[in-house]
Amino acid sequence: MSLSSSSPSAPTPPERVHVGAVTALPDGSQTEVLVGGVPVVVVSYEGQYYALRNNCTHKDFPLLGGDVSMGRITCAKHGAKFELATGKAKTLPAVKAVQIFKTLVEDGEVYVLAL
Ligand code: FES
Repeated sequence: MSLSSSSPSAPTPPERVHVGAVTALPDGSQTEVLVGGVPVVVVSYEGQYYALRNNCTHKDFPLLGGDVSMGRITCAKHGAKFELATGKAKTLPAVKAVQIFKTLVEDGEVYVLAL
């Protein structure tokens, strides 16, 4: 006879970082969290939460606080724009995509999932 676990098929939840309550992150707000030591900017935009590495791929300037419009965040240093949903660089001087992270809302709380 073999031993069996009480929950043999329970998936291992991915590591996640708590960002804050939905009520504390209204549309248009931004904040920063550390995910595995990596700074990540979380943007609340049109009812969705987006998480991108908080480093512009041009010269490493933080994206936090950059203007957000048309689904893009603008680096305040030289004006590169990155698509929130994909991290793709949409305007020069940046050409490389910025790393993105998944977000999750559960019980009114926002989380970023570690990759
Ligand atoms: S550092 Fe972001 S555009 Fe130059």
